[in-house]
Amino acid sequence: MIYSKILGTGAYLPEKILTNADMEKIVDTTHDWIVERTGIHQRHIAAEHETALTMAEKASRQAMTDAGITPAEIGMIIIATTTPEKMFPSTACLLQQRLGIAGCPAFDLNSTACAGFMYALSIADQYIKSGAIKSALVIGSEVMSRVVDWSDRTTCVLFGDGAGAVVIGASQEPGVLSTHLHADGTHKDVLSLPVSIGKPMDVEGALYIQMTGNQLFKLAVNILGDLFDETLKANGLKKSDINWLVPHQANIRIIQSMAKKLDLDMDQVAITLPDQGNTSSASIPLALDKAIRDGRIKRGDMLLLEGFGGGLAWGSALIKY
Ligand code: UT7
Repeated sequence: MIYSKILGTGAYLPEKILTNADMEKIVDTTHDWIVERTGIHQRHIAAEHETALTMAEKASRQAMTDAGITPAEIGMIIIATTTPEKMFPSTACLLQQRLGIAGCPAFDLNSTACAGFMYALSIADQYIKSGAIKSALVIGSEVMSRVVDWSDRTTCVLFGDGAGAVVIGASQEPGVLSTHLHADGTHKDVLSLPVSIGKPMDVEGALYIQMTGNQLFKLAVNILGDLFDETLKANGLKKSDINWLVPHQANIRIIQSMAKKLDLDMDQVAITLPDQGNTSSASIPLALDKAIRDGRIKRGDMLLLEGFGGGLAWGSALIKY
């Protein structure tokens, strides 16, 4: 049996930070409201010259160094991003060119939003498991600051910029044990970025994220609970077998409720939300990288990763690190 194993991780966060005190000067909000309702204290914001591509390159190079692998050994590049460099060529192709390699498949997952990293990881895992490729670079990279309406307090306080990357490679040792992906288009209006190519904008502010936060909150809590049951059942495992939850970082109250569902203490949850906000598809690899790099997640630990976002789309992975 071939598994895909996490060989290395990398991260990049822009230097500029906007604190909640800074947000108070931009929109009608308060530090206390943001912390109480979301858990966010600050977010990183890309400089003018930084893009999903430049940040993906930095995170990827760090992940490849960590994995002890050269760009030439990468068998596939997938970038999950809702804020791509261009419509096409893909950010992944542009990264491939910057890495000085050619030939391996490279593509973006643009529309799975905050669930993007789970979709990307699942696809790369299937290719590795089937024996079609030996390694993959899986990235989440987002400049959310360019798609939020900075006059809308209900969204602009939530998001941040950054990139996280993971190198996975074929192994005889257990690694990614299973992945689970879902979508339900009946909830299409709960979270969207409704700009349409070549068409007049049919929604006011279509260039910006539209979100009905409280509806999404309730949906997330329900679907993630079912997703955990599905993931554990597929592997014949119990909640107590899980060492770490590595969740999408959207809201601390959602994360706390997920930890409770799994009977995990909060110190068994990889959290970056207070310092980074919601970085969409970058949030899971960023949280994973941080907890691995500071030594909390150790080889042999059982990790449950989960993400959800626009679509709705959601997914999980169970990984023996
Ligand atoms: O990554 C994609 C997935 N995203 C998510 O999962 C987001 C999930 N949802 C959430 O995280 C929460 O729903 C939010 C943080 C977005 C909102 O928190 P909430 O507790 O659900 O608040 P709400 O939307 O029900 O709004 C409560 C009040 C409203 O005022 P009224 O109508 O009660 O007078 C809002 O206008 O809070 C107001 N409000 C704010 N007040 C101060 C909304 N945003 C702000 C703000 N500062 N930034």
